[in-house]
Amino acid sequence: MKVGVITGASSGLGREFALRAEEAFPEIERFFLIARRKDRLEETAKLLKKPAEILPLDLTAEGSVEALTSALSSCGAEVCLLINNSGMGVLGEVKEADPGLQMHMCDLNVRALTGVTAAVLKFMKRGGRIINVSSIASFVPNARMTVYSSTKAYVTSFSRGLRQELKKEGIGVTAVCPGPMDTEFLDVGGVRGQSPMFKKLPYCKVPHVVKGALRAAKRGRAVYTDKLFFKFYRVLAKVLPHAWLIPFVKT
Ligand SMILES: NC(=O)c1ccc[n+]([C@@H]2O[C@H](COP(=O)([O-])OP(=O)(O)OC[C@H]3O[C@@H](n4cnc5c(N)ncnc54)[C@H](OP(=O)(O)O)[C@@H]3O)[C@@H](O)[C@H]2O)c1
Repeated sequence: MKVGVITGASSGLGREFALRAEEAFPEIERFFLIARRKDRLEETAKLLKKPAEILPLDLTAEGSVEALTSALSSCGAEVCLLINNSGMGVLGEVKEADPGLQMHMCDLNVRALTGVTAAVLKFMKRGGRIINVSSIASFVPNARMTVYSSTKAYVTSFSRGLRQELKKEGIGVTAVCPGPMDTEFLDVGGVRGQSPMFKKLPYCKVPHVVKGALRAAKRGRAVYTDKLFFKFYRVLAKVLPHAWLIPFVKT
C-alpha cells in the first residue's frame, strides 16, 4: 500500500501539509499522521479525503520510531512521501535557558528527525520524496536562538548529504527553509512579542510555503525558500562571511 508519513500534523505547517499532500501526491492511498496531541490529529484526519491513521507519538520518547516502523510493516507500506515537520524553537540565550528544554529541542529537531528518516527509508522505493522542514535560521547562526538555528543547520546539511546518497536510488530530498510564520511555534518557544527581529521580518503564509514546498519536492529540488526577501538572504548567506552577518541576524 502506498503511504505518506507526516510528522507534526496536529497544527500549523504540518496540518496544511497533510491537507495539500493528497492533491500533490494522488498515488498515496493512506496517510500516517504523527504528533503528541491525539485530538488534534483526529481533527486533521477528518479533513482528509484519503484514509488516515493517527499515531499519537512523542518522537523524543524511547520506542516511538519502533512504533512507526511496526505500523508501516503491518500494512505492507511503500512510503511515497515523508514529511519531517515536527519541530520547536525556543527564544533566549543559552546561559539563561532551561538546559533540559535545550536538550529536548535537539532531541526533537535533530535526533528524532534522523531516526524517523532512517527508519522510513527502509520502506521507500524509487520515486519516493522526503521533505525536511528546516528554517531560514539554518543559513547563519542566530544569537538568542542559537540552539534552534544550530539544529536547523543540521537539518539543511543532513538533507543535502542524504540527497546525494539517495540520488542513485531515485529518491529526492528537499530541505524547506521558511521564514517566520504565524503558528503555535511562536507561542511554544516564547517568541511571540519577545523578539525584535521577529517583529521586523516579513511573514510567510503557511499555505504558500506548503504549496511551494510540495512543488519543489516533486521537482527534486535540494532547498526551497519562500519569499523573494528570504531567497535574497539565502544568497547573501552564501557569499558573505558569516562573521559579518551574525551581529545583524540576532533574534
Ligand atoms: N513558525 C515559524 O515561524 C517557523 C519558521 C521556520 C521554520 N519553522 C519550522 O516549521 C515546523 C513546523 O512548525 P509550525 O510553525 O507549524 O509550529 P507548530 O504549529 O508549533 O507545529 C509543530 C508541530 O510539531 C509537533 N511536535 C512538537 N513536539 C513534538 C514531539 N515531541 N513529538 C512529535 N511531534 C511534536 C507539534 O504537535 P504536538 O504538540 O501535538 O506534539 C506540532 O504538530 C517546525 O519544524 C519549525 O521549526 C517554523
